[in-house]
Amino acid sequence: MLRRLYHDQPETFAFTPDNQKWAEAQMKKFPEGRQASAVIPLLWRAQEQHGWLTRPAIEYVGQMLDLAYIRVLEVASFYFMFQLQPVGSIAHIQVCGTLSCMICGAEDLIGVCKDKIAEKAHEVSADGKFSWEEVECLGSCANAPMAQIGKDYYEDLTAARLSEIIDELAAGQVPVPGPQNGRFAAEPLKGLTTLRGFDSGKTKYNASVQAAVEIGDTVKRIDGTEVPLLTPWVKDAAAKPTKPKPAAKPKAAKPAAKPKAAAAKPSAADVSEEQPLTLDAARETGADDLKKISGVGPKLEGVLNDLGFWHFDQIADWTDAQVAWVDSRLKFKGRIIRDNWMAQAKELAKK
Ligand code: FES
Repeated sequence: MLRRLYHDQPETFAFTPDNQKWAEAQMKKFPEGRQASAVIPLLWRAQEQHGWLTRPAIEYVGQMLDLAYIRVLEVASFYFMFQLQPVGSIAHIQVCGTLSCMICGAEDLIGVCKDKIAEKAHEVSADGKFSWEEVECLGSCANAPMAQIGKDYYEDLTAARLSEIIDELAAGQVPVPGPQNGRFAAEPLKGLTTLRGFDSGKTKYNASVQAAVEIGDTVKRIDGTEVPLLTPWVKDAAAKPTKPKPAAKPKAAKPAAKPKAAAAKPSAADVSEEQPLTLDAARETGADDLKKISGVGPKLEGVLNDLGFWHFDQIADWTDAQVAWVDSRLKFKGRIIRDNWMAQAKELAKK
């Protein structure tokens, strides 16, 4: 299926402060220089925040990870988990249309979606509450036909049951996910034929359904108010509950906009910063290829040029206060020290 960006895009995107903190913590999970590996969690969080994945959000994630826009777009357009167009405010229903599900009635489920939501996939219902699409096998073939709604699977569906589920969701209820025909998991319909003495455990539902029931919400989006932020690998993030903050206002600035050195106003917290020597343009000999510094990609090179840095020798002698000045103007702080740009630049300047 052709997956394209939606024709009507918002102007900007910015993570809420909580989501920004979470995203920066995700980046720290990966070895130095491998922050691009955080692309999927960051895109997912952006989608959870906004409801669907916008072009500014894709650009924003690219900027954070120092990745070219096309590299992030490739990921966003490849995986069906990313919605490139607006979805229903309550739920987007993904009906599996692959072999087992198709044999067991996926077409009837799609019929329900067409009747109750919208004639075409990816169209939002008239009341704005639902949208649907057909997706490839979701790995629950033993419980065909099935659909993913929000974060959970609804399995062993019939058209009538799916119709009820949509009504329940519309009424603000959260239907119990998992098999809808009384099965515990994927055992034979007529009951166990092996492992008869097997005690399914202490829980009413199978493991994933039990977890879903305990969370109590299939369709709620992650909005940054989850407590605690799940970043235990970051020292001070240890299970400290953070109070949900009032809806954070997205920053007005376009994420794609590059920091302007001259416009940057030092705050009280920046008192120890000192602006290094900057140039309006490269010297006549031409700009150095700053990408030779490990940790500097094309995006970051552009940012450095905008700040007034064109040559290795400009970077080689930065003091701590000057590093602090530059660092506070980069999206991913700590990178200069971490990759020791000064030592690298010193070596490169000799060549
Ligand atoms: S065929 Fe539908 S989940 Fe595999």
